Amino acid sequence: MSAPATINIGLCGFGTVGQGVWKHLSANRADLESRLGVKLHLSRAAVRDLRKARAVKIPAAKLCSDPLAVATDPSIHIVCELMGGTTLARKVTLAALRAGKIVVSANKALICEHGAEIFAAAQKHGGHFFFEASVAGGIPIIKALREGLVANRFPRIYGILNGTCNYILTQMEERDAPYASVLAEAKRLGYAEADESLDVDGWDTAHKACVLAWLAHGVWVKTDQMIVEGISRLTPDDFKNASVLGFGIKLLAVITRDFARNELCVRVHPTLLPAGNVIANVSGVFNAISVTGDVVGTTLYSGRGAGQDATASAVISDIADGAALLTYCKGTHLISEATPPESQRCRLAPAESIRSRYYLRLTVKDQPGVLARVASVMAKHRVSIASVIQNPAEHADAASLVLTTHESNERAMCTTLQQLAALPSTLDEPLLLRIGDFND
Ligand code: NAP
Ligand code: HSE
Repeated sequence: MSAPATINIGLCGFGTVGQGVWKHLSANRADLESRLGVKLHLSRAAVRDLRKARAVKIPAAKLCSDPLAVATDPSIHIVCELMGGTTLARKVTLAALRAGKIVVSANKALICEHGAEIFAAAQKHGGHFFFEASVAGGIPIIKALREGLVANRFPRIYGILNGTCNYILTQMEERDAPYASVLAEAKRLGYAEADESLDVDGWDTAHKACVLAWLAHGVWVKTDQMIVEGISRLTPDDFKNASVLGFGIKLLAVITRDFARNELCVRVHPTLLPAGNVIANVSGVFNAISVTGDVVGTTLYSGRGAGQDATASAVISDIADGAALLTYCKGTHLISEATPPESQRCRLAPAESIRSRYYLRLTVKDQPGVLARVASVMAKHRVSIASVIQNPAEHADAASLVLTTHESNERAMCTTLQQLAALPSTLDEPLLLRIGDFND
């Protein structure tokens, strides 16, 4: 079959990301066409509510309310799934792939839940699935892992993968701003998911960590196999305590592989990072990822991790890959589509293998013997205390105790935490944060 003279593009979803793609593809079409040597045509877009006012203008005749019709329209070559969610998005994606089309997706939740099925469908039916926008917004981290770093195995990947959370944490730290008002700002700026708990409870970061872990290690690690903790229990005082101790706090995804033991660990949690660490200083909606390869050493990537323009940049790069594929290599697969080798013998690291130093905040009765009882619970589990800070607490006759530990492990800390929470002198649920001793 000959290559089409014009590549027709259909969008399923015309919200923050969809409108960004339409706007920038329309504005830069001539340049893109000249680079690619093929015409690009924005055919149509599907939305839920045809009457909604939209900042980016689109002819009414090009809007419809049936994403499946766009996905299966025989004249459309590239289908961009930009709706979010996992039910209709899965149907639309599979329908387009079964028709042998190219699908471009920004939907990390979909890939995390149904990635194996989606890649199998693409392979079986001759379709193609591109997903650069699904992780870290405008940073080309998928291409970096699949192409630029193809020579490497990856003992460690860690970083900030959620723009909304980094925006909130930065504002809390720098302006002492209340959590709720900063979250509302992040929503207004188009950073947050339709269901904001995906952002603040760590699930969006976990979905992205799942995608990166698959690319790096060929294993689908589901969110219920990870430690996933969000940012909603952090207070401005935690930033002050961390700063006194020489740290900043970031919500991180951490993917580590111990090749000698063949253990993989994927976790998402707020982390204390040394104040001098580059990623500790990445603020606002920016994401940053440190990738350590066994051949290249450590490489670092930073850029806007959410928002209309950054995400459109990544979607359009996938559209360009799709257009090039259709024009020059129809019937083949790009290097960037190669499935990562499956790590057959790799197992998930057990809790005692996950080692770290810890930060522990407890609100306790301000009475004689309380600190001794806390220390005795920790000693029972061989958790060694490195430092103690005592601050006044909001409750009368109470104190806020902040302890840091020497290196321990998740199993010991989990039991310690349960027993500390059960002490009669403990007044609130304790907060446990990991300390990331990452220097690069
Ligand atoms: P959004 O602003 O909520 O837009 C979603 C779009 O999908 C809207 O146009 C909506 O229609 C349409 N839609 C939803 N359900 C539909 C249905 N049942 N039938 C037809 N149309 C439907 O979301 P977004 O922020 O653009 O995000 C889209 C995807 O990109 C998500 O997977 C998200 O995780 C991902 N992503 C977002 C960002 C970001 O910064 N926003 C960054 C990276 C990745 P109406 O307009 O009529 O409501
Ligand atoms: N809600 C996501 C974030 C969008 O804030 O990072 C980008 O994936």
